[in-house]
Amino acid sequence: VPPASLLPLLLLTLLTGVCVDGYKPVVIVHGILDGPKEFKALSYYINKVHPGTEVTVIGLYDYLASLMPLWRQVQGFRRAVWSIMQKAPDGIHLLCFSQGGLICRALLSTIPDHNVHTFVSLSSPLAGQYGDTKYLRWIFPDCMKKKVFRICYNRVGHKVSICDYWNDPHQRSRYLKNNNFLAMLDGDRPHNNMKAWRENFLRIKKLVLIGGPDDGVITPWQSSHFGFYDSNENIVEMRNQAFYMNDTFGLKTLDARGDVSVCVHSGVKHIRWHSNFTVFTLCMEKWLT
Ligand SMILES: *[C@@H]1O[C@H](CO)[C@@H](O)[C@H](O)[C@H]1NC(C)=O
Ligand SMILES: *[C@@H]1O[C@H](CO)[C@@H](O)[C@H](O)[C@H]1NC(C)=O
Repeated sequence: VPPASLLPLLLLTLLTGVCVDGYKPVVIVHGILDGPKEFKALSYYINKVHPGTEVTVIGLYDYLASLMPLWRQVQGFRRAVWSIMQKAPDGIHLLCFSQGGLICRALLSTIPDHNVHTFVSLSSPLAGQYGDTKYLRWIFPDCMKKKVFRICYNRVGHKVSICDYWNDPHQRSRYLKNNNFLAMLDGDRPHNNMKAWRENFLRIKKLVLIGGPDDGVITPWQSSHFGFYDSNENIVEMRNQAFYMNDTFGLKTLDARGDVSVCVHSGVKHIRWHSNFTVFTLCMEKWLT
């Protein structure tokens, strides 16, 4: 029998052990033109509130390589995420930033037996992008947003990641005909795997959507919550989107289950979402257990 004075210490040790075992690994998928280095603060926050959490920021397609076509990137990320899932019998959490959120949707739709518990989408253009940003001007220097479709909705477009989610509301039929990434994930462009992809996606237990009006890059910013422009550039919010109403990829089912959590914050610029401790505390901490 240990001396009474040691009991609190023993208990503490036991409890700590329980907690450390309890946190699921967190896998972070970076955004366009960034890489693991940009996620040091976020990894630190996670371990500060949930000590012992295994956090992996996947170092694939970093910086300029992030402009590669998304289906190609998905292949690489699939292998990396798969090996982490194999070692995590209780499942993992996927935390995906910006363009990474679309890569994660593709992973969740196409990995049949994934064990992702919570998918946190951090300021990701989930319903597409239609806006001039400083990234865009650098990549397509002479193009204004009205003209980008000419590049994106043809064969050249299939070579640049941004085109995989460029959603010009004035060029709907061209988008549906030529986009083989977002239009397929959303089920706006019907395909044979829709049912299977939907089932795969619905394996997640929780979807957390984070974004806000001062983002400055995601356009419209509501795309971070599955809202988007109609043909008059008015915002159609998530629940009025055709892909939601038709439940093409499971979003309506998730929502009806009560498993869609929406977190909106103003005052956060795009590249600040992952390093803002307030956002972390209010929108992410409670889900990453
Ligand atoms: C829902 O799907 C049906 C059948 O595919 C289609 O005809 C209809 O236009 C869709 N509705 C919406 C709102 O997208
Ligand atoms: C951090 O987030 C809060 C809102 O949650 C916002 O008011 C503040 O401006 C943000 N700070 C930075 C540096 O992004």
